[in-house]
Amino acid sequence: MDSSLQYICGSIAAAVTGAVATAAFYIATRPPPKIKRNFDLNSQSEELSGLDHVRISHLTPKAPHVSYLFEDAQTLHECMVRGARVSGNGPCLGWREKGSDEYQWVHYKEVLERAKNFGAGLLHKKLKSGSFVGIYSLNNVECVLTEYACYGRSMSIVPIYDTLGPKAFTLVVNEAEISAVICDNEEKTLALINDKNEMPTLKLIVQVAPISASAKEKAKHFDVDLMSFKEMEELGRAHPQNLNPPKPETLATVCYTSGTTGSPKGVMLTHKSIVANVSAVMLQLGETAPGSSDTMLSFLPLAHMFERCCQVGLFMTGGKTGFYQGDIRKLNEDFRTLRPTVIPCVPRLLNRMFDKIQEEANSNKLKKMLLSMAIESKKAELERYIGLNNLELQAVK
Ligand SMILES: *[C@@H]1O[C@H](CO)[C@@H](O)[C@H](O)[C@H]1NC(C)=O
Repeated sequence: MDSSLQYICGSIAAAVTGAVATAAFYIATRPPPKIKRNFDLNSQSEELSGLDHVRISHLTPKAPHVSYLFEDAQTLHECMVRGARVSGNGPCLGWREKGSDEYQWVHYKEVLERAKNFGAGLLHKKLKSGSFVGIYSLNNVECVLTEYACYGRSMSIVPIYDTLGPKAFTLVVNEAEISAVICDNEEKTLALINDKNEMPTLKLIVQVAPISASAKEKAKHFDVDLMSFKEMEELGRAHPQNLNPPKPETLATVCYTSGTTGSPKGVMLTHKSIVANVSAVMLQLGETAPGSSDTMLSFLPLAHMFERCCQVGLFMTGGKTGFYQGDIRKLNEDFRTLRPTVIPCVPRLLNRMFDKIQEEANSNKLKKMLLSMAIESKKAELERYIGLNNLELQAVK
């Protein structure tokens, strides 16, 4: 990931330094908006008395604590149903064919319908409510369909990812007693099948990419049921079953963290805990919280709860999420094509962008001067509580 970060940050840096001149001029000429906050920005939370140094934001009502924002969105399943309603069946999940210059969209109702079919397919394959389903894949439409297929049947999902360490999947599959895994490509399918003897619970693999004859052969040999994503959807369509939606207390996911000490550990999260988390963040964001006119670019691994929480925020308010092509070096193109308004980021990525921008600017005295002017004027504005979005004035109340 490191070298690819270099790459994106490089191209972003070039674009940013180019835009700085215009920005500096604009900032110097427009009238400053006045924004008031009734608390000190250097002390945005206060300590609750009687508790062990628990702090609470000035924006949060003291009691009761927020566990959901909308009566009709208390589980992740309900969040998706609500998104369908409030967006008027708007676009929900988008992807880009390699080389294509536009995103294609799956609308909310289709997401619900396909997830329902996929879930019925899993039931037909003897999974039941309470089963654990692994997702071993880059972010894509099928991941989210699998997620919501499982939620609709009160099953739980477990993301599996390579950065957990070599062969961490055997640990995860065994510990969570996973019987079915969804893989995006054949490489991952084969890796699982090769270690099938170490994973007695694993019975079924659903692969998104086309399945080769040799993989089918191999699966048969190791007694693994290998199907394509399409086949599973069709199986469910042919054997429909009513939904069995989760309760807020139902386990939604087990999220493995690559602990710095010892082996990865699974964190059990209920629908209620995820919805409460997302709702609290949305409340804090106030007017700037995402809504149905927002578009999010998804490229941080879905194994990050942060990324998934952001998606839930978009789903519950009817926004849309587009996936990157799967190649971090082409993230730039995805930015340009999708024109996202929400981009979940991590500090490491932002630091890299900062360094690259500085590096680019240092090559030229004028650029360097303009950049430091822009940064100074941004800082000065922030100190005066002025928030700007895309060079348009946006008062953050
Ligand atoms: C709660 O939300 C924050 C912000 O979206 C996120 O970073 C964090 O991972 C979430 N925690 C859990 C346990 O979902």
